[in-house]
Amino acid sequence: MATPSDRERAAITRLENLFLGLQASRYVGLDRRVQRPVFLKPQGHARGVFTIRPDLPAELRVGVFALEESSAWVRFSSDTSPQIPDAANATLGLAIKLLDVPGPKLLGGEEQALTHDFVLQNHDVFFVDDAETFADFTEVSLASAEAFEAFLASHPDTARILQEMAKEEDSALLARYSSTVPYAFGDRFVKYALRPRADSCDPPPVPKEKRGPNHLRRDLRRRLLERGARFDFFLQFQKDPESMPLEKATVRWSEELSPLIQVATLELPAGQDIDTPGQPEAIDNLSYSPWHALPEHAPVGSINRARRAVYKASADYRRRRNHVPIGEPSEAV
Ligand code: HEM
Repeated sequence: MATPSDRERAAITRLENLFLGLQASRYVGLDRRVQRPVFLKPQGHARGVFTIRPDLPAELRVGVFALEESSAWVRFSSDTSPQIPDAANATLGLAIKLLDVPGPKLLGGEEQALTHDFVLQNHDVFFVDDAETFADFTEVSLASAEAFEAFLASHPDTARILQEMAKEEDSALLARYSSTVPYAFGDRFVKYALRPRADSCDPPPVPKEKRGPNHLRRDLRRRLLERGARFDFFLQFQKDPESMPLEKATVRWSEELSPLIQVATLELPAGQDIDTPGQPEAIDNLSYSPWHALPEHAPVGSINRARRAVYKASADYRRRRNHVPIGEPSEAV
């Protein structure tokens, strides 16, 4: 596993400080709960079942994919503040926590946890290549509009990808999600993808002119109550290190060169009400991290190396300030 260079280590410290500062400055409403620094508009939380394909070939039965099924929690979110309307088209996040995965995990201090997380968003590339560029980006975006514009002018790929990411979604249950960055798969490397199943797309979305500022949450509530949802979960293997790099997160891995392989399904059963009192707080207190992972699925690349310390610092700070327990659930909450 690659270790951070001195420059990368310095960038990770910058990111940790920037994200903790951002979080401390963002208290929401009168209850003064500390929220996540990013993806802080929760759209809803669902209970699900992650089922591995029973006919999966032996060579793909690695880590969690060697299990039969796991119960799961799923957190849907938008990368914006709760008061911003969904029409602003903020990036959608979908974080899955498998709850009953045996074996030691990678995150320091939480090795005994029974959880394994997948953190996905509704775009298949990230908007900067590495931790250092992300630290520069975050600094200028907090500094001034002029500094931010200058950064985008000198990083045209970042400007383009940010535009692509601001896409309109009819429903969080109809969007397509990706890990965007790579993970180990035994001695190989993959990206993850999650797509809604065709048989799970009813009812049709509410027409645009009838949508309120929190359309995505209302849509999620209605669909989960009435129909539930089903997604297919895919692996995309790295076939060519040149065109499918591990260290450059802005580079899309070609699906022609390496088609997605469906390995599991995620089912969110019907009849669950995301507005159940108490539920949002309980699940928002959880921490979803790419480093809640079995070693066979170790996060890979500069961006992922940075996420190890930053997610832990962010989640621990948030939970300490909110006086809620730090650590992973050993069973369903
Ligand atoms: C160096 C790069 C990154 C940094 C520093 C970073 C930072 C963070 C932090 C601090 C949180 C909140 C953690 C918490 O308090 O629980 C978070 C959440 C999140 N991040 Fe990242 N992130 C990075 C890259 C990415 C990438 C590549 C993705 C693409 C999938 C992503 C998707 C998400 C999502 C979906 C959440 C919300 C998870 C939840 O529902 O709890 N991030 N990120």
